[in-house]
Parts: sequence; C-alpha cells; structure tokens
Amino acid sequence: MRVKTLFVAMLAVAVMAALPAARAQNAAGAAASSNIENGKRLWVKDNCYSCHGYDGHGGAGAKLAPKPIATAAFIAFVRHPSASSMPTFSAKVIPDADLRDMWAYLNSIPAPPAVKDIPLLNP
Ligand code: HEC
Repeated sequence: MRVKTLFVAMLAVAVMAALPAARAQNAAGAAASSNIENGKRLWVKDNCYSCHGYDGHGGAGAKLAPKPIATAAFIAFVRHPSASSMPTFSAKVIPDADLRDMWAYLNSIPAPPAVKDIPLLNP
C-alpha cells in the first residue's frame, strides 16, 4: 500500500514536471504556424507573389519554394537585388521580421511528388 502511494506521488510529480515543457512546445508550435500564416499574408500584401507565384514556384521571378535559400541570404537579396530585374525593398518598406515570416511560409511549402509517384504520368 505504501509503495503504491509513493508510486502515485512520484507519477504526479513527473506529470507536473512534464506539463510546462509540453505547454512550451505547444506555444513554440503555435508561434511557428502563426509566423507561417503571417508570412503567407505578407507574401500577397507586399506583392512578391506577382513575380514569384502564390506558392513561390516562380514565374517572372525566380523559383523560391520548396527549399528557399537560407534566411540571411534571402533577406540580403531582397535588400540588394543589384543587377537583377527584381525591385529593391528597403527595411523601411519591409522589415526583416516580415521577410523572416515570408521565408517561414516559403519554407513550409512541401516539395511536389516525384514524377514516378504521379500515376497519370506513368501510363
Ligand atoms: C517585378 C518582379 C519581382 C517582384 C515583385 C519580386 N521579385 Fe524577387 N526576384 C525577381 C527576379 C526576376 C529574380 C531573379 C533575379 C536574379 O536571379 O538575378 C528574383 C529573385 C529573388 C530572390 C533570390 C532567389 C535566389 O534563389 O537567388 C529572392 C530571395 C526574392 N526574389 C525574394 C522576393 C521577395 C521576398 C519579394 C517581395 C518582397 C520579391 N522577391 C518580389 C522578381 C521579382
């Protein structure tokens, strides 16, 4: 009986210790998905979609998704597209935080299936 009580007490302590960690993880997950949602909204609002497509698959602009270039390079390019035909966007127009959210959105776009996995293309 005593051992059982001790076990229950230990279990309760373990659960209480694990709860904040689980909550923190949920908060991090929620923050990540809200960044993605915000990035998706900004992608359209700031007009990036007009050249790069709604899902960043490219068009007049380069293909940016899936797997966009590293965040720092992404931001650096937007600030100084130099010789390219892409317009420059300063930090006054689009802050770094917004570009990070857009990057999170592009990075969340899954890769398309391989040709061999598309039945219509494999008669
Ligand atoms: C008027 C068309 C146009 C618009 C609008 C535009 N881009 Fe571009 N973007 C381009 C073109 C064209 C390139 C390819 C340039 C090159 O390779 O020299 C490019 C390239 C890029 C690259 C570099 C990709 C790589 O792999 O090197 C990034 C990052 C990028 N654009 C982000 C953005 C973001 C973010 C926005 C919105 C704020 C945006 N672009 C709006 C035309 C556009």
